[in-house]
Amino acid sequence: QRIAVLGAPIDLGASVRGTLMGPAALRTAGLVTVLESLGLDVIDYGDVGIADVAELGDEPPAKAKHYRQIQRWSRVLARRSHELAQTGAIPVFLGGDHSLSMGSVNGVARHCREVGRDLFVLWLDAHADYNTPHTTITANMHGMSAAFLCGEPGLDGLLGDETRAAIAPGQLELFGIRSIDKAEKELLRLRRTSIADMRAIDEFGVGVLMRRIIDKVHARNGVLHVSFDVDFLDPELAPGVGTTVPGGATYREAHLIMEMLHDSGLVRSVDIVELNPFLDERGKTARVAVELIASLFGQQITDRPTPSNAII
Ligand code: ARG
Ligand code: MN
Ligand code: MN
Ligand code: MN
Repeated sequence: QRIAVLGAPIDLGASVRGTLMGPAALRTAGLVTVLESLGLDVIDYGDVGIADVAELGDEPPAKAKHYRQIQRWSRVLARRSHELAQTGAIPVFLGGDHSLSMGSVNGVARHCREVGRDLFVLWLDAHADYNTPHTTITANMHGMSAAFLCGEPGLDGLLGDETRAAIAPGQLELFGIRSIDKAEKELLRLRRTSIADMRAIDEFGVGVLMRRIIDKVHARNGVLHVSFDVDFLDPELAPGVGTTVPGGATYREAHLIMEMLHDSGLVRSVDIVELNPFLDERGKTARVAVELIASLFGQQITDRPTPSNAII
C-alpha cells in the first residue's frame, strides 16, 4: 500500500497562530519513518503552498476571517487531494488548522463519487466545526469545515471552478465532541447529524461506538476519511493545541479507535490537524499524534492475525 504525505502549513483559519509549523513537527517526530517501518511505501510530497494560486473576485462572506487566503488553500488542496486519491495511494494531509479539510475532504469525496463509493467522514474532535458564516461567533473558518463539507450554505464560492463534492449530513460522524456553540447545536439537531459526544463515550466506551460506525460504513459499501483534530485528545496528553477543551480522549481510547480503524480496512485518507508546535511541550503532542497514526496503519501491541480486509 502506498501512502502519500502532503503538508498544508496553514494557520489563518484559527485564532491562535502557529499550526503552520505542524507538518514540520510531525515529520520531526518521525511520521514517515514510522510508516515505512510498518512496511508501507511512503511518498512525501512536501508542503503545498498558495503562492501560485490566483485570488478570485467573489464577494467574501461578512463573517469568515481570512476568507481570501483560506479560499486559495482550499482550491489548491481540493485539486491535489483529488489527484492523490486517483493514484490509489492513501493521502495523509498534515496540518495546519482544520480549515484545510474543506479542500482535502472535497478532493477525496469527488474521487469517491467518480468511482461510485460513498465517503464517510469520521471527525475526531473536541468541536463539531459545524458553523457557517451565519451561525459563527468567532468568524474563524476552522470552525466551519464540517458544515462546508456537508453542503451548508454560506461559503458557496469558496472553491471557485474546482468541483464541489459535498457529502450528505448522514455521512458525517462527529466523535469526541465536548464543545458546541448554541446555533451550531441547533443546526446539527436539524440535520440529525450523528454525534458521539464525550458523554456517550463515557457511557458506552469507544469500542462499542466505533464498532457501530464501522458496521454502518461496511453495510453501505462505503469508505472512510479520518479527520483527526489533535484537540480530540485530552489536553494533559496533547497540550500542543490552541483550542484545548478538558475531558478529552485518553491515550488508550485514542489508540483503540485507530487500531479498530486499521482492522476495518475502510480508511482511504487522513487529515492530522490543529497541532501547534509553538504551544507544545518538547514535542509531546507531535509524538503522540505520530504514535496514533502508527496504530491507524497497523502497529500492534501483540501480533495478531491481520484481518483479510485490513490496509497493509
Ligand atoms: N466553535 C468554535 C468556533 O466556531 C471553535 C471551533 C474550533 N475548531 C477547531 N478546529 N479547533 O469558532
Ligand atoms: Mn476541528
Ligand atoms: Mn477522479
Ligand atoms: Mn477542535
